[in-house]
Amino acid sequence: MRAYEFILAKRMGETHSEAEIVDFIKGYVDGRISDAQAAAWCMAVYFNKLSRDEMAALTKAMIESGDRINLSAIEGIKVDKHSTGGVGDKTTLVLGPMIAAIGLPFAKMSGRGLGHTGGTLDKLESIPGLTVELDRPRFVKQVGKIGLAVVGQTGNLVPADKKLYALRDETATVENIGLIAASIMSKKIAAGADAIVLDVKCGRGAFMTTVPEARELAEAMVHIGNSFGRKTAAIISGMDQPLGRAIGNALEVKEAIATLTGGGPEDLRELCLVLGAKMAVLGGACRDAAEARLLLEKTLDNGTAFEKLRLLVQEQGGDVAAIDHPERLPGAARQEEVLAPSSGTVKAIDSLALGLSGMALGSGRERKEDSIDYAVGIVLNKKAGQKVNQGDSLATLHYNNDVRLAAARNRVLEAFQITREPNVSEPPLILGSVE
Ligand code: URA
Repeated sequence: MRAYEFILAKRMGETHSEAEIVDFIKGYVDGRISDAQAAAWCMAVYFNKLSRDEMAALTKAMIESGDRINLSAIEGIKVDKHSTGGVGDKTTLVLGPMIAAIGLPFAKMSGRGLGHTGGTLDKLESIPGLTVELDRPRFVKQVGKIGLAVVGQTGNLVPADKKLYALRDETATVENIGLIAASIMSKKIAAGADAIVLDVKCGRGAFMTTVPEARELAEAMVHIGNSFGRKTAAIISGMDQPLGRAIGNALEVKEAIATLTGGGPEDLRELCLVLGAKMAVLGGACRDAAEARLLLEKTLDNGTAFEKLRLLVQEQGGDVAAIDHPERLPGAARQEEVLAPSSGTVKAIDSLALGLSGMALGSGRERKEDSIDYAVGIVLNKKAGQKVNQGDSLATLHYNNDVRLAAARNRVLEAFQITREPNVSEPPLILGSVE
């Protein structure tokens, strides 16, 4: 089928065959199909959607565009975890060590932060000396030795998605469930895990802002994972406020350490336990979620999960003393409090605005090539559902540069919605699950 007819078919609301989708994606990667044609097709998909079979075909076509990672040299069931992107989301730093501590291998390829959401690699690199650039043999060897490695992507994984995602980003066609599901799942499946647990974020600051949309995305991804023979499950979690209290690379590592040593914010601990229980069951380490939860709680409270993080830092060349004494992690030169302008209850905290404020302080990048400041960020002193008095500190800004502070200060203040309404409760953390 000519590209013109293929685009027209979707514009008219028709359904593509698998062969047509495979041919179109191959043509796009080869350069036979232009950016203009691919963008037109994405826009047609945006309005007319993809069926479940079309999503699976697109996933297959994208996987076939590049390398697939073979993790069979690592013994045991490899369970991967993916979050659709949130603010203050440091779950991988906590979950990886917890999962390794119950004996399941955690071989994770992560990404860098771009835009308002942070990336696990940047957080890890705030630990002095730590490298995330391990070649494949060293990655596999480390997982065999300590049960855990978190590294940057190696190999030419899903080049079709790199090209298509960049195009979608430029043409306002990112927010389509079929395109997002195929984009995420092609990378997860090509990365080689046997089972996949997805954390689909929902709320302001996430791709999906309502629960029905988040559920539709979760169901689409679970369907794709299962149809490729990977046991897949999803949790829908709230992003109507950031996860935990810290936003910013070294600040988030400190919070992860606190959680791994039995403390940390309640919502972060809870999400890690819920996601971890799913991983433990899919990975065959536990019979059910209740048994898994007990086992995982122990790893946080008896230091075995923290010990796994220490081993990871040591193996990946980082300074273990900075983990044992988190005050040695990068710290900003100055701090400023953001004070409550009125009394009431915090109703919501705009995650998107806080993510953008963190970026303005220097903790994230606008373009891939931007450098970041590991030390800066925001610590929330109030969370949704809490009462405040006028003049209380809502958040502490950790900063190194006055111009950047000025760009962030008001945005942080505006992110807090303070109401005088009675009975404002904390927004729910877990909004649903899909098996
Ligand atoms: N993350 C991805 O990897 N792809 C998308 O399309 C959206 C979020």
